[in-house]
Amino acid sequence: MRMESPSLPLPRRILDGDLRVRRRPVEEDRAFIPLPLEALLPGERLTFPLFIKVIQGSDSQVTYSPCLGDGDELCQAWREKLLALGVDRVYVPEGYLPQVVAYLNNHLLVRATAEELSHQDIIVLREHLHFSLRLALQTPQLAQAVAPAKQTLHFLITSLKRDAAPWKLIWDLLYQDYTLYTHSVNVAVLAVAFMTFLKFPRPDCLTLGLAGLLHDVGLTRICQELLTKPEPLSPEEWELLRKHPCLGFRLLKGNASLPLGTLRLVLEHHELADGSGYPQGLPLPRQHPLTRYLSLLEAYDGMTLFRPYRPRLTPFAALNALREQRGKQGPAYDPQVLKKFIELLSLN
Ligand SMILES: [Fe+2]
Repeated sequence: MRMESPSLPLPRRILDGDLRVRRRPVEEDRAFIPLPLEALLPGERLTFPLFIKVIQGSDSQVTYSPCLGDGDELCQAWREKLLALGVDRVYVPEGYLPQVVAYLNNHLLVRATAEELSHQDIIVLREHLHFSLRLALQTPQLAQAVAPAKQTLHFLITSLKRDAAPWKLIWDLLYQDYTLYTHSVNVAVLAVAFMTFLKFPRPDCLTLGLAGLLHDVGLTRICQELLTKPEPLSPEEWELLRKHPCLGFRLLKGNASLPLGTLRLVLEHHELADGSGYPQGLPLPRQHPLTRYLSLLEAYDGMTLFRPYRPRLTPFAALNALREQRGKQGPAYDPQVLKKFIELLSLN
C-alpha cells in the first residue's frame, strides 16, 4: 500500500508536538529500515515514503512518524532542518526495498564516470550494498539476487584502482553499530580496499568482496534468541552457532553467479592460521589463499563495532588483540597479512 504525504511539513510537527527524535536504533526493527539522510539527493523526487523514529508521550512510546511521501521532493531546506534537529537518519518501510535499491543505483549510474567520488557518493555506495543485501536475503535465489551488490563492488574496485576514491573516504564507508548487515557491508568494503591496496587482480578483489558481504548469511538460519543472547553461550549453543559457515555455504552453493572462491571463503571464514579455527580446523596451507585475509578482516570488524553488551575496541586495541591471539600451533592470524593490514589502516 502506498503511503500518503503528511499534511504538515515534518519540522513543524516536531517542533509543535510532544515528539522527541530517537537518534539511534537500539534494536533491529524489521518493519522499518534506517537510511542516512546523507544518502538522499536534494531536488530529486522520492520513489518511496520516509518516516522518522520518535519517542512520544510520557510513556516514551516509540513510533514512526510520516515525513515525506512516495513522489515528494526532498528539498535542501528540509534536509538541513532535519539535520539541525539531530535527525541524521530516516526510515523506509521494508516493502519498499526494491525501490530504494533502484533509487541508489540510479545515483551510482550517474556518478560512474565521475573523476573523483564525493563523501555523498561513498555513503550512497555503502547504502546500496546494505539494501541490496537485505533484498537478496528475502529471495530464495539468494546468490542470483546479489547482482546489484556485485555491480557496486565492481564500481568500488574501479574507483579505487584509478584513485577516483580518496583512500580516506573509505573509512567513512564503515558502519559503527553491529547488525548482520552492517558487519557484512564493512567486511566487504574492507576486503575490496585491502585487495586493491595490495594490487591483487580484479577477480580476486571481487571474490573476496562478495565473500565479505555473504560470509555470515548462515546466521539467518540460526534462531534469533541465540544470536542476541546476552549471557555466555553453553557448549551446545556454541556448537549450533559454529554451524553457520556450513549453513551459509549450503545456501549459496550451486549457483553460477558467484565465483567458486567466494563459496569456499564463506565456508572457511572462521578458519585460523594455526588450524584451530572451525568448521574444518584447516591449517594455513590447506585453506583457500584468500581465507587468511577474510578471517582477519572479519575478526577486526567484529572487535571494532559497537555492541550493546560490550564496548568497542579502538583500531589499535583490536590490532593488538589480533596479534596476541595464538593457538597451540602458533599465531591465529598470519603475521604477514596483519602487517600489511596495519599499512592499509595507516592511510586513514
Ligand atoms: Fe561468521
